[in-house]
Amino acid sequence: MGKLIIVDHPLVKHKITLLRSKHTDVQVFRQLMQELSMLLAYEATRSIPVENTTCETPLMQAEAHLITPGTLAVIPILRAGLGMVDGLLSFMPMARVGHIGLYRDHDTLQPVEYYCKLPQGIADMEVFVIDPMLATGGTVAKSIETIKKAGAHKIRFLCVVSCPEGVEVVQKAHPDVDIYTCVLDKCLNEKGYILPGLGDAGDRLYGTK
Ligand code: URA
Repeated sequence: MGKLIIVDHPLVKHKITLLRSKHTDVQVFRQLMQELSMLLAYEATRSIPVENTTCETPLMQAEAHLITPGTLAVIPILRAGLGMVDGLLSFMPMARVGHIGLYRDHDTLQPVEYYCKLPQGIADMEVFVIDPMLATGGTVAKSIETIKKAGAHKIRFLCVVSCPEGVEVVQKAHPDVDIYTCVLDKCLNEKGYILPGLGDAGDRLYGTK
């Protein structure tokens, strides 16, 4: 079973509180989303491989370590996942970025892919799939399925808010994928919103409501 890692940190708790508040405006919401994504990325990159190398300090040669170019990929799930991209890239500017978009079919209620552009060579990369809200888990599970079909097998999923229902769906469908989250909320309501949650992350990021 994949691990569920809840990033337990006073800064995360503080920023989540501000993010949740209905009084937080679009600009601050975006900024907080970016900052929380950076803190998630710090945890989620803890185990990525580094190459041993050396570098010349002003005084002598030092043993050193570098991340191999072309080994990291960030894949936001459209549209809310875009709000996390800059946070991750501020820590790993060398990462490639792919995009995946799905909508929910009105009749079947199943997620249907409408856009997918993934980096070449994804099979050998450490892949970070990002979406702020892990709600029903259907979209996330389907996105990971697509990314695996492209050959990726080192995948982590990062979200800001999660709930037990979504975690269970993703862990069952993808037991090899670890989930990193800032907070695990109580449950879903009948409309698929996380409670207490923060409302619609996409609308709050882009001011569309
Ligand atoms: N997507 C959101 O943006 N918010 C939720 O609470 C659930 C899914």
